[in-house]
Amino acid sequence: MTQYNALNALCINNTDLNTLMKNKLFSLLIAAIILLSCDNSNKIRSFEPGEIWPDNNGIHINAHGGGILFHKGKYYWFGEHKTEGNTGNVANVGVHCYSSKDLYNWQDEGIALAVMPEGSGSPIEKGCILERPKVIYNKKNNNYVMWFHLEPKGGGYTGALSGVAVSDNITGPYAFLRAARPNAGHWPLNASEQMKSGAIPSEGKYYGGGSLPAHPDSLNLVARDFGGGQMARDMTLFVDDDQKAYHIYSSEDNSTLHIALLNDDYTDHTGIYTRQFLGRFMEAPAMFKKDSKYYLMMSGCTGWAPNQARSAVADDILGEWTELGDPCIGDNDKKTFHSQSTFILPVQGRKNQYIYMGDRWTPKNAIDGRYIWLPLEFEGDKFFIRQHNEWSLK
Ligand code: DGJ
Repeated sequence: MTQYNALNALCINNTDLNTLMKNKLFSLLIAAIILLSCDNSNKIRSFEPGEIWPDNNGIHINAHGGGILFHKGKYYWFGEHKTEGNTGNVANVGVHCYSSKDLYNWQDEGIALAVMPEGSGSPIEKGCILERPKVIYNKKNNNYVMWFHLEPKGGGYTGALSGVAVSDNITGPYAFLRAARPNAGHWPLNASEQMKSGAIPSEGKYYGGGSLPAHPDSLNLVARDFGGGQMARDMTLFVDDDQKAYHIYSSEDNSTLHIALLNDDYTDHTGIYTRQFLGRFMEAPAMFKKDSKYYLMMSGCTGWAPNQARSAVADDILGEWTELGDPCIGDNDKKTFHSQSTFILPVQGRKNQYIYMGDRWTPKNAIDGRYIWLPLEFEGDKFFIRQHNEWSLK
């Protein structure tokens, strides 16, 4: 049937048809505008530090103590999946992953590394402590490597192990490889002869942090842990321009920070490492590089409670490091704007734009922990952070 005949059959003439089509086009246009404006109205266009941060499903992002990997045009945020209540800081679920193109709007990519069932005996069994996961991309193997601080179930914080997992897919699932204390059988590059002689070993005492003597070196914890590997708790990863990757972790009962070179696969330590900030009890290390200089932001050791931030700069990643002091400006309480560092993110395609990523922990209801993201400012060789209630990338 021709169009004319069909219209005749429907008793619609040409004028009616024009009006109909115009109306249809008009309705379609209105529908598209409504759809677009609905879509855009849900879009997040600024950072609001400390507020609920909904993902694409409207659920507060659950990626605490996390870090970000930028890969093929997208940011991937990995962090601890917390659960409700005051037991929600142990790993009941695993490491959560989100993706974003603009850093404001995050899509839930699910659990990248899942804990193993209770009773499985796995080091990452449900109920273990799995903190501060970070993921890096290994160019050589075209795969993704995740490291995290692991405390096997039931041992409190005495294990001080580093866990490692790999995946061929950025969002996972990641396969758990092992958990161990780093650099067993290796002295740090900057070990003294006295240390190597093993003088004054401690009696294997456990210190929760902050309670070591003023000169923890007198205990020679490195010698104590030489055979079994060095303690490793709060941690981050850093991949340098030459693709060498480093594991940076609080060691020696948190009294000292170790900076350790990983192997070419990024899945193990090489025995090459240095000790930094002796007796300074640094936690929460976050590292970045700018204009050939390496920077660290860290905290002191006060559990889940915030404390005053620290920062440091170096020309060589393995040291010497020079402390720069508290980078926070106008932080009257001296508590890092009530947060603790986890990562410093270079914003892609924007020179000198870096974001401080901090956690405002809520141990009474761990899942409600908030994210304090703030822009870094630079002056000479120093960086600074100021409070903003709401801000956007420039
Ligand atoms: C502070 C650390 O930075 C966190 O990752 C966590 O280990 C808490 N201490 C536990 O108290």
